[in-house]
Amino acid sequence: MFVEMQPYVGLVEAIKQRRAARSFKSDVIPPAILQEILELGIQAPSGFNLQPWRFIVVKEQKNKDKLQECAFNQRQVGEAPVVLICCGDRRADNVDNIDAVIHLGEENGMMTDNFANYMRSSIPEFFTNHPNFASMETWTNRHTMLAVAYMMIVAKSFGVDSCPMEGFVSNQVKEAFQIPKEVDVCCLLALGYADEPAKQYGGRFPLDQVYFNESYGEPFGLS
Ligand SMILES: Cc1cc2nc3c(=O)[nH]c(=O)nc-3n(C[C@H](O)[C@H](O)[C@H](O)COP(=O)(O)O)c2cc1C
Repeated sequence: MFVEMQPYVGLVEAIKQRRAARSFKSDVIPPAILQEILELGIQAPSGFNLQPWRFIVVKEQKNKDKLQECAFNQRQVGEAPVVLICCGDRRADNVDNIDAVIHLGEENGMMTDNFANYMRSSIPEFFTNHPNFASMETWTNRHTMLAVAYMMIVAKSFGVDSCPMEGFVSNQVKEAFQIPKEVDVCCLLALGYADEPAKQYGGRFPLDQVYFNESYGEPFGLS
């Protein structure tokens, strides 16, 4: 169930205002806002709708302290009222998950027998050949980070700051939080209210450095 709430700022402003916060106040995130962040985050797209992302929501101080120890003692892990351990489940191509996605499509009235058959045959083939990723972890990471990006923008639209983090020791996090061996930790995401003057914008490369026209390396321009 979505809670009907009016975001505080629009999409463009949320994207422009978001900065990776390095310090957080202890103020809690109202549950209805947290719910929006979690619900809207997983509206991100995924290949075949397989939704390989999984998140551990860490709020208890003793668990945040434990997580901070696995994250090079980064202060935002201990300070933020909520930290998500953002994971990717490599079992997303299992028959059970494919069936669950088909069932979900049926519940939503969009699944035909033809499409279900297509999914049952083409998904295992795709993951056997995996023509565009080197490992299953690459594939799950690709998806989990999309959901994380959605969450950061949604959070900012409700006035909630965030910090995505790759500064952690994966094996330590997995052991401390009982994460199965088939599941990888993609990043940590601290959520809360920044306790610092508005962090300075580090800038982004200009468009002509990162976009190309029709083939790689060809100068891009909007005309
Ligand atoms: C995948 C990823 C991992 C990151 N890891 C860390 C981290 O471990 N610690 C940290 O303080 N910031 C981390 N950051 C935040 C970046 O340093 C920050 O996004 C970048 O400097 C640009 O700043 P801005 O997000 O405020 O525009 C990470 C960002 C991303 C996307």
